[in-house]
Amino acid sequence: MKVLITGGAGFMGSFVVKGLLKEGFEIIVIDKLDYSGDIKRLEHVLNEIEFYRLDLLDYEKLRKLILEKKPSIVIHLASYTHVDRSIMFPRETIENNIIGTLNLLEAIKDISISKFVHVSTDEVYGEIFEGSFMENSVLSPSSPYASSKASSDLVVKSYYRTYKIPSIILRPTNNYGPFQYPEKLIPLTILKAVNNQKIPIYGNGKQRRTWLYVEDFVDALKLILKNGNIGEIYNISSDEEYENLEVVKKILNYLKKPFELIEFVSDRPGHDFRYSLNYEKIKSLGFIPKYKLDNGLKITIEWYLENIQWLREKYDFVNNFVSSLLRNYNKLS
Ligand SMILES: NC(=O)c1ccc[n+]([C@@H]2O[C@H](COP(=O)([O-])OP(=O)(O)OC[C@H]3O[C@@H](n4cnc5c(N)ncnc54)[C@H](O)[C@@H]3O)[C@@H](O)[C@H]2O)c1
Repeated sequence: MKVLITGGAGFMGSFVVKGLLKEGFEIIVIDKLDYSGDIKRLEHVLNEIEFYRLDLLDYEKLRKLILEKKPSIVIHLASYTHVDRSIMFPRETIENNIIGTLNLLEAIKDISISKFVHVSTDEVYGEIFEGSFMENSVLSPSSPYASSKASSDLVVKSYYRTYKIPSIILRPTNNYGPFQYPEKLIPLTILKAVNNQKIPIYGNGKQRRTWLYVEDFVDALKLILKNGNIGEIYNISSDEEYENLEVVKKILNYLKKPFELIEFVSDRPGHDFRYSLNYEKIKSLGFIPKYKLDNGLKITIEWYLENIQWLREKYDFVNNFVSSLLRNYNKLS
């Protein structure tokens, strides 16, 4: 069966590509190879897949490719994904994520597919101090990134109702694992720590997140492809909830680096305090996350240490961005 994956050269997308190849699917990847996309993530499987460097905003090329390839399943992960970048570049984020999704839906309207899986995020619900969000909780996004994802979800929902696009929306919590671009908390902490540089922590570091190892996300997606119900939304999470500061300390302990590297900086504007998802619905399909944060972190840190060169290649870009970001947040606070 032919599966088209958008954002397949991204962190999660590349794990999805490799996971579905093992299941015997024929894979077509579309990715524009933006700064967070990297063909190296697909290096070992490039001769087993079809890869197209293509921007979802280029509607004519996208439509032509989809009409020619006629995939049976489409999994949509392509997106700008960094909250801080969305605060610095809101227009680009909102245009990319909403129009990209719209173009994809328009392009698949004229072919017959069995499933369109749209990968959204827990951030669409906003923060929650106690308890957990259900799939039908109100959407209350805080950042331009989160609002672009929430808007895309609504566009997908409307295409399901109006054009009968057989959609399923997934809302995963924070993913982590090898090959994640080092702008996100875990790889950024590793990058800074191995260089003995200060690790910036927003506010007091008490913000709480739930962590899902990326292979667990792929398992959840496989279940959805087999048994997910069309028209439904599924939260995907784990029970691994920690304060950001606790996660950073775990990494420093593992790397035998001093806690003095931690530097508290001005908080991100609109920073959500806590995300939490009720994921009973996907559990009822048989989903059980396999990885505790400690196990997943060990694999992740060891991978980065073995692939330190890949991490270093991103170093200047990330460092420059973090510095300009902190200057801006200082002004805003
Ligand atoms: N990483 C997480 O913790 C997390 C959590 C919840 C949801 N998500 C969602 O999962 C998906 C994948 O996230 P990720 O962490 O792998 O992101 P990523 O930034 O690593 O990868 C995104 C990929 O999309 C590509 N892309 C972006 N815009 C594109 C466009 N217009 N056309 C073609 N390609 C484009 C980029 O080149 C990149 O390869 C996203 O939709 C994200 O919102 C991520």
